[in-house]
Amino acid sequence: MANAKKVSDSAIEDQTYKVFPNDLNSNDTVFGGLVMGILDRVALVVAERHCERTCVTASVDAMHFLAPARKGDILIFKASINRAWKSSMEIGLKVITEHYETGAQKHILSAYFTFVAVDEVGVPVPVPQVIPETPLEKRRYEEAEMRRVRRKEEKEIRMRRRQS
Ligand SMILES: CC(C)(COP(=O)(O)OP(=O)(O)OC[C@H]1O[C@@H](n2cnc3c(N)ncnc32)[C@H](O)[C@@H]1OP(=O)(O)O)[C@@H](O)C(=O)NCCC(=O)NCCS
Repeated sequence: MANAKKVSDSAIEDQTYKVFPNDLNSNDTVFGGLVMGILDRVALVVAERHCERTCVTASVDAMHFLAPARKGDILIFKASINRAWKSSMEIGLKVITEHYETGAQKHILSAYFTFVAVDEVGVPVPVPQVIPETPLEKRRYEEAEMRRVRRKEEKEIRMRRRQS
């Protein structure tokens, strides 16, 4: 674990985005695709900070939109690395809305992204391991392994379907 890194070395605590009228869908709530694009970029920054290599998005799982965001809201993005394996890393994300007048906050979204570090020709390369320090980081570290097992099973099912 010589080059292992702490979760706090790459975490993003409060990336903000102010919602304007052109960010809304026809239901007058924030367009989900906009949030997904920001999430991918924020998570990418965490992954690339952790491994100091170019990373690509390999998969996104468990993205749950729990509540809508509206015009004028401030979106707060929080992202941190949960665990790293050989060349892949799971990044956990949370989005919170903050009302610009009342300051009231609401957790509106959680998601997990997996990134893979690649070399100049797109071949996966090894990444530093993660050192979980706090009880929360340790819980996320353990849970990430369970999700990885599920992702692998799902990948195998997809591969089998493609071959049949
Ligand atoms: C992600 C990618 C580099 C993996 O390459 P690959 O040849 O499948 O590599 P491998 O099977 O050797 O797997 C390499 C790692 O990726 C992980 N991985 C591969 N597919 C995955 C998936 N769907 N979900 C999560 N992790 C995945 C593997 O578990 C492995 O992790 P590990 O090294 O930590 O054990 C390749 O599939 C790719 O380039 N995909 C396109 C990425 C991209 O363009 N993203 C942007 C979309 S617009």
